[in-house]
Amino acid sequence: MPATPLRIAVFASGSGSNFQALAEAAGRGALGAEIALLVTDKPDAPVVERAQRFGIDVFAFRAKAYPSREAYEAEIVAKLREADIGLIVLAGYMRLITDVLVAPYYGRMINIHPALLPAFPGVRAIRQALEYGVKLTGATVHFVDGGMDSGPIIAQRAVEIRGDDTEETLAERVHAVEHALLPEAVRWIAEGRVALNGRIVTVRR
Ligand code: GRF
Repeated sequence: MPATPLRIAVFASGSGSNFQALAEAAGRGALGAEIALLVTDKPDAPVVERAQRFGIDVFAFRAKAYPSREAYEAEIVAKLREADIGLIVLAGYMRLITDVLVAPYYGRMINIHPALLPAFPGVRAIRQALEYGVKLTGATVHFVDGGMDSGPIIAQRAVEIRGDDTEETLAERVHAVEHALLPEAVRWIAEGRVALNGRIVTVRR
């Protein structure tokens, strides 16, 4: 592992259970990386309180205070540089992102999505899977490109859908899988085991 640990910024807009899983993994020394910053567009979101509990810096902004998406992203990029961030983890960040953010961090920005991509991209992926009637869904960690949940896939784990599942019961099992998968994928990246070649990601075991 490199002498100075990889510094991560987590972007989140809501509950932050994935943020919590990452912070706990870092606390156990299981992340191989340090969470240096939380970026949120929702200053009142529960994830902010979680970050404060872990003593992690927060950059909270309100999109409406800026003339455009590009304008707040330019400020985010400045904060990321200031904090020497090497990896961005989108974990429930509910905003579309532009090239202002994607271009400088391509290959250094990942997202967790609650479905087996390319099935069910976008919002309400758990409900989409239930309503479609698939028997398997799961979670995906992927690099972020300019599209909607369309970047190269790093890791996936499946969850079986049961006949009596509701959106809530299924979400509980998908989230449990996310909380294990995301810290694991971050650790692979921190350990320099992940190579990106076009759409294909290889992970050295
Ligand atoms: C997760 O299901 C993640 O896959 C999706 O947004 C949700 C965030 O949940 N992108 P939480 O805020 O981490 O609890």
